[in-house]
Amino acid sequence: MVSETPELPDLDEVQYVESPVDKLPARVVGDWSEDKHYYLNHYINIFETGMHKKWASRAYIDLFSGPGVCMSREARRVTDGSPLIALKADYPFTDYYFSDLNATVVKALKRRCEPFGSKPGIRINIFQKDSNAVASEVAAMIDAKTLCLAFIDPTGLDFKFDALRALTGGKKMDLIIHFPIGTAIKRNIEKWFKKDQSKMDAFFAGSEWRGIYEGNQGNLTNLTSGLLGLYRAKLAQIGYAMEPADAVQIRNSKNVPLYALLFASKNPRGNQFWKKIKQIESKGQRSLPFD
Ligand SMILES: C[S@@+](CC[C@H](N)C(=O)[O-])C[C@H]1O[C@@H](n2cnc3c(N)ncnc32)[C@H](O)[C@@H]1O
Repeated sequence: MVSETPELPDLDEVQYVESPVDKLPARVVGDWSEDKHYYLNHYINIFETGMHKKWASRAYIDLFSGPGVCMSREARRVTDGSPLIALKADYPFTDYYFSDLNATVVKALKRRCEPFGSKPGIRINIFQKDSNAVASEVAAMIDAKTLCLAFIDPTGLDFKFDALRALTGGKKMDLIIHFPIGTAIKRNIEKWFKKDQSKMDAFFAGSEWRGIYEGNQGNLTNLTSGLLGLYRAKLAQIGYAMEPADAVQIRNSKNVPLYALLFASKNPRGNQFWKKIKQIESKGQRSLPFD
């Protein structure tokens, strides 16, 4: 769903705005969110097209769900957020698990999910919980015969590695992960470094990142690739392959890198699917290597 909405309040001032389409809160986002959703949508479609006949049970997990609809700050467009993108897939998943910490967001998402929940063969579970706490609860609801895709989309370093381990243990689950390179790390890493226990320690489940920071202060490119390499090694410990070269960089309108979308899978076929969809960029161009 995309609709143009010229008459709105100053979107620099607000996090949520009423969507003119359904009168429920929409999340105000940078226009680059459409790039993020482009890759998510394409991966869901290649995954579901290839797998819906082979796997009777397929789950989509989105524990930083947002309200289901976004309003882009510059283009002033209303677009689907990640939960609605997944619900509207050509071949929908059989089970959906959504969670968000924010009560208003969850209330809006529940309303937006109503038309989909009544479809036969689709079960939707919505929690208002911290993703770190709900991860093991969701994992306990999914059996080993279910093929899963989890989209991990926090605004910062909110998802602890231990929660990722709990979510994925014993599961066939591909991962698309919002990995904060660029501005989020640049702005905060010194502050995190000075604390004994910081978000970064929980994000990586360890303190190895501190050595990487010390060795690469002032060199954001090397720091970023060092941290990506560390995350790759952590993912490998829980059975995942993630290639930093396959990460997609999401940039703002001034071409500043904001974050990367990482893809990780326990099955090489997942990585092949991701390679295939990332060949064409959201603007329709062939992608360049990650720098
Ligand atoms: C980047 S937005 C998600 C956008 C959504 N995935 C989409 O693409 O449309 C991050 C969301 O995470 C929620 N959030 C932040 N910290 C959280 C936490 N610890 N647990 C669960 N949700 C959290 C925020 O309320 C916000 O709605």
